[in-house]
Amino acid sequence: MAKILVVYGTTEGHTGTVAKRIGAVMKEAGHEVHVPDARDLRGAALDQAYDGVVVGGSVHGGEHQSSVREFVRRHRDLLVRIPSAFFSVSLTAAYPDDEARQDVQAVVDRFVRETGWQPLRVEPIAGALVYSQYNFFLRHVMKLIAKRHGRPTDMTQDHDYTDWEAVERFAGDFAGEVSGRSHGSEGGIADL
Ligand SMILES: Cc1cc2nc3c(=O)[nH]c(=O)nc-3n(C[C@H](O)[C@H](O)[C@H](O)COP(=O)(O)O)c2cc1C
Repeated sequence: MAKILVVYGTTEGHTGTVAKRIGAVMKEAGHEVHVPDARDLRGAALDQAYDGVVVGGSVHGGEHQSSVREFVRRHRDLLVRIPSAFFSVSLTAAYPDDEARQDVQAVVDRFVRETGWQPLRVEPIAGALVYSQYNFFLRHVMKLIAKRHGRPTDMTQDHDYTDWEAVERFAGDFAGEVSGRSHGSEGGIADL
């Protein structure tokens, strides 16, 4: 059994749901998993030794949450010592074309530049259009943007683009990698 941290940043809540699904898959595989919001770890040292860390955030205005960047800068040494991965949730990731792929990559590159962490594994995840979570002004701005991109403009419901099977595969693969590595090791490495 490995001990895994899945830390996330979210603005409207969807990435929290993704992180919890990742955590649930890992728990089902028998691992001990903690899934905190990066905001709750601000300024805090990790009080446990982990065998692997997954970091995730969502994209707003071309960047990830500052709490996620802060977590990565603070714990960069740990992230390069043990298996780690990054997932990035955005609406751009819902588009299958090359231009969208390049846009997603540019946002991840910015994150890497700003944090100094080059994750070995990066998983882009299509997010959600959650009209129910937006205020009046934002609902209408998002509707205009959705219209421009051919996305649903029906504001009476939310629209989820996440490929949940891909999320579960990502979680399973990462947990497999961590437990492979932690077998025969002397346990996790504390983030001192
Ligand atoms: C104000 C706002 C700005 C956004 N900016 C971007 C963006 O620059 N690029 C993008 O691909 N998606 C953008 N999105 C879409 C979000 O990344 C998507 O809705 C995601 O699921 C939000 O996750 P969260 O609920 O965890 O915050 C934006 C959404 C909002 C509401």
